[in-house]
Amino acid sequence: MKQSVDFQDFIDEVIAKNDIVDLISQYTTLKRVGSRYQALCPLHNDKKTPSFSVSPDKQLFHCFGCGAGGTVIHFVMAKENLDFMEAVKLLAERSGIAIPDFRSSAEKDKANAIHEKKKRMYQMNAEAARFFFSKLTESGGEVALSYLRGRGLSNSTIKSFGIGFAPDTWTSLVDFMKTKGYTEAELVEGGLAKKRENGTAYDVFRGRVMFPIIDLRGNVIAFGGRTLVDNQAKYLNSPETLVYKKKENLFAMNIAKNSKAGQFLLMEGYMDVVSLHQNGFDNAVASLGTAFTPEQAEVLKRYADKAVLCYDADEAGQKATDRAGEILRAADIKTRVLTISDAKDPDEYINTKGKEMFEHMVTSAESFIEYKIGKIEKQYNLDDTVEKIEFVEQIAKILANIKNDVEREIYIKKIARKTDISPESIKTHVANIALKARRGDALKERRVEKREFEARTGGRQDLEKMRVFNAEKLMLNLISERDVFLEVSERLAPEDFSEGLHRRLAEIIFDCHKRDEKINVLKVLAQFPEEEAGCVSEILSDDKNVDNRKEAAKLPLKIIKAYQMKQEEKDLAEGGDTEKLQEIMNRLKKDKK
Ligand code: CTP
Ligand code: MN
Repeated sequence: MKQSVDFQDFIDEVIAKNDIVDLISQYTTLKRVGSRYQALCPLHNDKKTPSFSVSPDKQLFHCFGCGAGGTVIHFVMAKENLDFMEAVKLLAERSGIAIPDFRSSAEKDKANAIHEKKKRMYQMNAEAARFFFSKLTESGGEVALSYLRGRGLSNSTIKSFGIGFAPDTWTSLVDFMKTKGYTEAELVEGGLAKKRENGTAYDVFRGRVMFPIIDLRGNVIAFGGRTLVDNQAKYLNSPETLVYKKKENLFAMNIAKNSKAGQFLLMEGYMDVVSLHQNGFDNAVASLGTAFTPEQAEVLKRYADKAVLCYDADEAGQKATDRAGEILRAADIKTRVLTISDAKDPDEYINTKGKEMFEHMVTSAESFIEYKIGKIEKQYNLDDTVEKIEFVEQIAKILANIKNDVEREIYIKKIARKTDISPESIKTHVANIALKARRGDALKERRVEKREFEARTGGRQDLEKMRVFNAEKLMLNLISERDVFLEVSERLAPEDFSEGLHRRLAEIIFDCHKRDEKINVLKVLAQFPEEEAGCVSEILSDDKNVDNRKEAAKLPLKIIKAYQMKQEEKDLAEGGDTEKLQEIMNRLKKDKK
């Protein structure tokens, strides 16, 4: 995006109207220390000493622990996991600033063109769905209709899902859609037709029962087609298109989102879902011919925070249950597992045992954790002491991952009863595992810090370099003030700073002073990529707690200079220029006085 002057004004206003102390106070408790605030970092798991610092004067924050830092915008980006513009929008809304449309006319045209194209694809799909639906009751459609009847579907179910039939011919849909004004190219792009070698188009779906896939706004976005014969793939699904993203959509979600049940029933198949709806379970949905995704979990979560996994009874269904369960738990959706028995899937179950039995299965479904415990229990003989210990080990690992104390307590009691071990010792064991995991995290965190330092210093990790590096940081902070800069500017140049971020920042600071401009931290920050904002904020906003800043500049200057000369000396010694070397040695001696 081209950043016009207007744009910068808008960003400045957003930053000005969202006080950083006020905003961050909503996430962590800030404690005043001198001219700044301290806190436990709300951006990483900060349990020990407060490593998070906010400067109200500069309207910046930074964290020594995780390295994050910058303006309110950077904070919201990190905390809410948003990109730059999303964070700006959120802050603008928070402070009641209207958001101008900064897109160039070319960008607007492009967005409009995509919008129009999508709209036309929705219309095309709706037209195709109507075509398939009408074919079900026309001659040739009898096989499909009687198949659906055979599977117990009523007219009204068929109608409300818009189930249809694609005739077993090569171009009936293509021919029909052409009379409606759609081109072969559009049909191919929409996944409804394919090109032959000679360039003509033919229908993708032939001789199949058609299930339209409908998005949350009621648009037909794709189709699933079930075969009526045995010798081909059971289902054929639309490819991904401009309007169809498999991992973000769920079958029947357009209906289920309005359910009053307060939870979703997640199944594997189209037929399972349709059967369940016909029996009054309007909260049944299915992921579309693929494994359940985190994106789909987010969609569910917008409408309810509970789900019941009702996958097929076979081994594939069990594996899918394990994976979907973990994804749902990660999304903080309370998950239970309904284990189908005496039938292969929910569709068969409800057709043979009736809806009351299914309802009973839903209400008595065990939690995902219970389900996992049950599966592990089957592998061990709890009458054998050694096996019992192993069993508890396995279970403790699962329980250590439960964040909710009450929930964890309940399972600990259950396991205690099952194994005849005291709840206290199981609890201690679980707590130990959790502690070890947290220590592991802390260790990882420190390793990340070290790696960042190494990255910035070019892989050198010796103490001397570290000392110089810190001296440079302090110096950059000090010379952002004009009087300190004037004091040292004769002896210091941007080239004296380590290559990379320090040098670039020095160049900007020197430039500003030479042009007699005051350092504007926000403008400086804008010249660095996001991942460096934390480092720059840390350098510029840190309150170094020094009374006399000119005086304070002396030590870092000495360290920087000494190190630099030592480097030069080394380079020259390697190059063998003895005369120059002597000159430097003399200078060095003077400097040490
Ligand atoms: N599926 C698919 N492609 C296949 C097989 C299955 O996309 N070749 C997807 C479909 O979304 C299907 C789901 O996986 O609905 C579950 O498969 P399955 O249990 O075989 O299908 P059902 O819907 O139960 O169909 P039916 O009851 O008619 O066997
Ligand atoms: Mn099935």
